[in-house]
Amino acid sequence: MSKKVIELQNIKRNFQVGDEIVHALRGITFTINEGEFVTIMGTSGSGKSTLLNTLGCLDTPSSGEYYLDGISVRTMSKSERAILRNRKIGFVFQNYNLLPKTTAVENVELPLMYNAKVGAAERRNRAIEALKAVGLGDRLEHKSNQMSGGQMQRVAIARALVNNPAVILADEATGNLDTRTSFEILVLFQELHAEGRTIIFVTHNPDIAQYSSRNIRLRDGHVIEDTVNNNILSASEALAALPKNDDD
Ligand SMILES: Nc1ncnc2c1ncn2[C@@H]1O[C@H](COP(=O)(O)OP(=O)(O)O)[C@@H](O)[C@H]1O
Ligand SMILES: [Mg+2]
Repeated sequence: MSKKVIELQNIKRNFQVGDEIVHALRGITFTINEGEFVTIMGTSGSGKSTLLNTLGCLDTPSSGEYYLDGISVRTMSKSERAILRNRKIGFVFQNYNLLPKTTAVENVELPLMYNAKVGAAERRNRAIEALKAVGLGDRLEHKSNQMSGGQMQRVAIARALVNNPAVILADEATGNLDTRTSFEILVLFQELHAEGRTIIFVTHNPDIAQYSSRNIRLRDGHVIEDTVNNNILSASEALAALPKNDDD
């Protein structure tokens, strides 16, 4: 049996807004095993971001249990959670969240700065390896403002990989990219999946679910669908079938 990377038991998250309580998550239960590529979908307001913040240890549920790589997150202090987050989770955001005017290598080195066991030379080597793995071996010293959106997202994915996390959490990771570049990034996620990485990709774009191994759908803070995809489409085939950009 596969190892459980994520286990949620009846997770609820309420927000007090004036005299009203908003029930953003109304009892979410699921398990994600090592090596799954899960898309989480739902319309705006369905609870995707709240769920992702919970999974990413950025927010604490109102009730319920969350085990990340076997560790109960609920009982942790804020600083313990920050360390857990740094070691176990790689984040990829819609807007890349790179440091401006900073080189690709320096951006990717960043998560390792919080790890005293990793010295400067190893840090640099691991950052270079991660950038090579996402196809940016020839852009190591490029600064964020000298890169395209697709290149910046590759740097962000390298940064997410550099700590060898238990899970990669992506929030609308292709949301700012044109169709062709979106597929290029999707190809990369499928390669990571093929290597055995665990990926959770939150999106409102239903097309992306065709490329993942499992899809969870939220509505009004509930899971309304949780299905395994037995017919995973190839993002590289879809990419090859797209018309070329004018400037190619
Ligand atoms: N910090 C917050 N304070 C108050 N209400 C919130 C907060 N975050 C989310 N909500 C509410 O919770 C519900 C789910 O929001 P969210 O998780 O952002 O959904 P999605 O990402 O799917 O659009 C919405 O009704 C939203 O207004
Ligand atoms: Mg959202």
